Amino acid sequence: METTSSTKLSCIFLCSLVLVFSMPWSTRAEIHDRFLQCLHSQNNDSISQVIYTPTNSSYNSVLQSSIENIRFISPTERKPLVIVTPLSDFHVQLVVNCAKSNGLQIRVRSGGHDYEGLSYLSYYLQPFVIVDMRNLSGISVDTESKTAWIGVGVRLGELYHAIAEKSPNLGFPAGTCPSVGSGGHISGGGEGALTRKYGLAADNVIDAKIVNAEGAILDRKSMGEDLFWAIRGGGGASFGVILAYRLQLVSVPSTVTVFTVNRTLEQNASKLVHQWQQIGYRLDRDLFITIFITQARSGGKLTVQAAFQSLYLGTVAKLLPLMQESFPELGLRKEDCTEMSWIESAVYFAGLPSGSTVNDLVRSTPYPKTYYKAKSDYVVEPISEVALEGLWKRFFEEEAERAQLILSPSGGRMFEISDTEIPYPHRAGNIYQFQHMVFWTEEENANSQRYIDWIRRLYKYMAPFVSRFPRGAYLNYRDLDLGANREGNTSFAQASVWGMKYFRKNFYRLAHVKQEVDPSNFFRYEQSIPPFLSS
Ligand SMILES: Cc1cc2nc3c(=O)[nH]c(=O)nc-3n(C[C@H](O)[C@H](O)[C@H](O)COP(=O)(O)OP(=O)(O)OC[C@H]3O[C@@H](n4cnc5c(N)ncnc54)[C@H](O)[C@@H]3O)c2cc1C
Ligand SMILES: *[C@@H]1O[C@H](CO)[C@@H](O)[C@H](O)[C@H]1NC(C)=O
Ligand SMILES: *[C@@H]1O[C@H](CO)[C@@H](O)[C@H](O)[C@H]1NC(C)=O
Ligand SMILES: *[C@@H]1O[C@H](CO)[C@@H](O)[C@H](O)[C@H]1NC(C)=O
Ligand SMILES: *[C@@H]1O[C@H](CO)[C@@H](O)[C@H](O)[C@H]1NC(C)=O
Ligand SMILES: *[C@@H]1O[C@H](CO)[C@@H](O)[C@H](O)[C@H]1NC(C)=O
Ligand SMILES: *[C@@H]1O[C@H](CO)[C@@H](O)[C@H](O)[C@H]1NC(C)=O
Repeated sequence: METTSSTKLSCIFLCSLVLVFSMPWSTRAEIHDRFLQCLHSQNNDSISQVIYTPTNSSYNSVLQSSIENIRFISPTERKPLVIVTPLSDFHVQLVVNCAKSNGLQIRVRSGGHDYEGLSYLSYYLQPFVIVDMRNLSGISVDTESKTAWIGVGVRLGELYHAIAEKSPNLGFPAGTCPSVGSGGHISGGGEGALTRKYGLAADNVIDAKIVNAEGAILDRKSMGEDLFWAIRGGGGASFGVILAYRLQLVSVPSTVTVFTVNRTLEQNASKLVHQWQQIGYRLDRDLFITIFITQARSGGKLTVQAAFQSLYLGTVAKLLPLMQESFPELGLRKEDCTEMSWIESAVYFAGLPSGSTVNDLVRSTPYPKTYYKAKSDYVVEPISEVALEGLWKRFFEEEAERAQLILSPSGGRMFEISDTEIPYPHRAGNIYQFQHMVFWTEEENANSQRYIDWIRRLYKYMAPFVSRFPRGAYLNYRDLDLGANREGNTSFAQASVWGMKYFRKNFYRLAHVKQEVDPSNFFRYEQSIPPFLSS
């Protein structure tokens, strides 16, 4: 069975490759015209309001407004033939059907925060269309059942804001950055300050709607449990276009407490980070303490700073004795702590300018955009103080001026969920996650390679201290250094190189699901899941 279907597959595939590679550039115009005709063939007037081709004056602004990593705004990147911003599920079906019948590839974009830009650029030669989901941004919160239906165009800040408007005691466990889109975020996992208590965003999805490769709209019941499993952590874009999710909301208390305590190397940062590794994942699950490592200056002298930032689901009065018991060395004082509502804590964690309010969580406030490169790791055993010192040394280098390491504790609920429950596999035993980031300025963009080399050296240094066989990575911190296919002909063996890092053994099940729902591999991109055993 498998042999036959994969033979058939490679035939379809070779034929389409021949088509693509032999296609003279002039036929791009024909494809473009036929695709637009196809979109209009349903006599649906509303779609013409949301089709952008390079001749439309707003094409560039629609393309760029959702590009978060601006190192990918460049005249040399390959641009889409067409951008469509659907206003309805039907529009999405039309785009899928018309793209498929006209030899166009699809890139699906919700919030545009992909670290490598894969939701809006393509390295393939084949022309492509961006389906930009920003306008599918409805939110309906039901406090009775404690659930919400959201369109994938909803940003995390908008989601939190909408939930808090309905109830101060409901929340949702997802990322801290308010401009992140739910389409990519939830389909890739989604972690934040509530993760120790409630797991990932993807752990709290109870239904979804998707347009599949046949252009049909499916919900959980009609897609079946395998596909529903795959799109909760396996990345949506290998399987279809997700339209909406139904979320299980979670309880949050009326009062939470936040603090940030900064310690430099001179203030025992090394010892404290070393200690945090042993307790961060074992703390009461109402207590989340994350660490940001940055270069810093203290009295004009270059140093390294560890910022301990925390959310506690309770009052200061309860937090202080808890800290005294579990992490007295940090020296937390009452005056370091602030009590607030959960939604205010979302503002605190958002990294918005100081003085920002709950209303700044919604999209009217543009989030600052930057140039950066990031990588991720999982730690299974505390790293020695000596090894940490070696890490700090790198933060004294020039390229580290705007670098940041984020250490996110696991444990709690994350350790209870089995590593096959959803595709995200980094559960029990992974005590915390590293996110390595390096940022640079516009003036330095011509020298971006310097910064990228710096972070690659850092990543190499970390190898002996982090998870191995394979070295784990988080899909939502996409990293093309882990392996990628830029030709559009990813084999199963090739994809297993990055697939095993993101998903471990779940990669096999993802490829089986792919084989089942999209055997001709219509939904593909540089790091997508190929059909099982395809060559
Ligand atoms: C500033 C910043 C802060 C972040 N903070 C966090 C954090 O706190 N926690 C965390 O876990 N992650 C965080 N991330 C990472 C973030 O979760 C991922 O980048 C996520 O994929 C972004 O989703 P998006 O919809 O904005 O991205 P997009 O770029 O639109 O999409 C990302 C990927 O998902 C696919 N996709 C998007 N929408 C759909 C859809 N509707 N159907 C199918 N496939 C789709 C895209 O094709 C692409 O492959 C952060 C990223 C940034 C840039
Ligand atoms: C066109 O699409 C819109 C949005 O889905 C829908 O409301 C409308 O009824 C459609 N019109 C026609 C003519 O099909
Ligand atoms: C883009 O231009 C085409 C052709 O002029 C037009 O039909 C379409 O409505 C324009 N799209 C938008 C969103 O204005
Ligand atoms: C859809 O998105 C485009 C691009 O952001 C925007 O200009 C337009 O107003 C949106 N349309 C609707 C109906 O929301
Ligand atoms: C801690 O350091 C961060 C980053 O340098 C800074 O933004 C913040 O104001 C500092 N907080 C405190 C309480 O000193
Ligand atoms: C650093 O640790 C030493 C020894 O444990 C302690 O005496 C000192 O007060 C600490 N310094 C700071 C700034 O916390
Ligand atoms: C994909 O195609 C390119 C170009 O034809 C070729 O060089 C490469 O080896 C192929 N890769 C795989 C994995 O088949």
